[in-house]
Amino acid sequence: MTAQIISGTEIAKQIREELKPEIAALKEKYDLVPGLATVLVSEDPASQVYVGAKEKTALALGIYSERHDLPVDTSEEKLLALLDKLNKATKIHGILVQLPLPKHINMTRVLYAIDPRKDVDGFHPVNVGKLMIGEPDYLPCTPYGIQQLLIRSGTQISGAEVVVVGRSNIVGKPIAHILLQKKEGANATVTVCHTGTRDMTFHTKRADILIVATGKPKAITADMVKEGVVVIDVGVNRIGKTAEGKAILCGDVDLESVKEKAKAITPVPGGVGPMTITMLMINTVKAAKLAAGLA
Ligand code: GUN
Repeated sequence: MTAQIISGTEIAKQIREELKPEIAALKEKYDLVPGLATVLVSEDPASQVYVGAKEKTALALGIYSERHDLPVDTSEEKLLALLDKLNKATKIHGILVQLPLPKHINMTRVLYAIDPRKDVDGFHPVNVGKLMIGEPDYLPCTPYGIQQLLIRSGTQISGAEVVVVGRSNIVGKPIAHILLQKKEGANATVTVCHTGTRDMTFHTKRADILIVATGKPKAITADMVKEGVVVIDVGVNRIGKTAEGKAILCGDVDLESVKEKAKAITPVPGGVGPMTITMLMINTVKAAKLAAGLA
């Protein structure tokens, strides 16, 4: 069996096409323009590219976008003061602070300082808690995108054995909770593996759906999966450069070998990556609707 390649690029485009008329209708019917503020405190080129792409996508959809690029030595107080201003700004419905933050800034304090109603990343403890009890307002963007990839590729989620490799707060833990909910597009049996797992292959071989977010290039190989598995590869690893200086990327899954056994698999790049930004746009529109009493 050679796997179907699940194109995040295509599915994300389809979701944005569905979102466009909704944004236009909000403007026409209610004079409501969703607003997103991005905050970057980093000189990391990858983070700068991500934030640039978020701003560009927002503008292309008719979302108001405000970008705050702060010097890397910005104090925590200054960042908190900016967040306070954005929390009060009526034009802004969603606030995104790009992670990671510099070491001198306490990330937890910063994430707590965002008004949960504007927390379109879904990282505030209020939103984490709401997801855990099955009443989420905002799903974190990457796991939300993973769920959409599964639904829109026609993967049976209800009743499936889902194995998540990785327990980060951004991907592993939230995707486990999303797929655990007693809801459509969820209702799976979820196992979470991590660095303390004794026998990884025992678990990964049982998976109908395998979601990998380890940050280790090609960590999952064909001998670790069963025939017919659906694989979502969240990893983005830079493993070298082309002669032209472009980064060579690979995922956490060895695509070449695993695709011979899998039913479907996401590529890297072009899988989960493009979904994350699009789900941020969905959350920003939802934030605007919630603020206006329309959701
Ligand atoms: N850094 C890596 N992924 C993310 C994300 O989903 N949101 C934010 N704010 N920063 C990130």
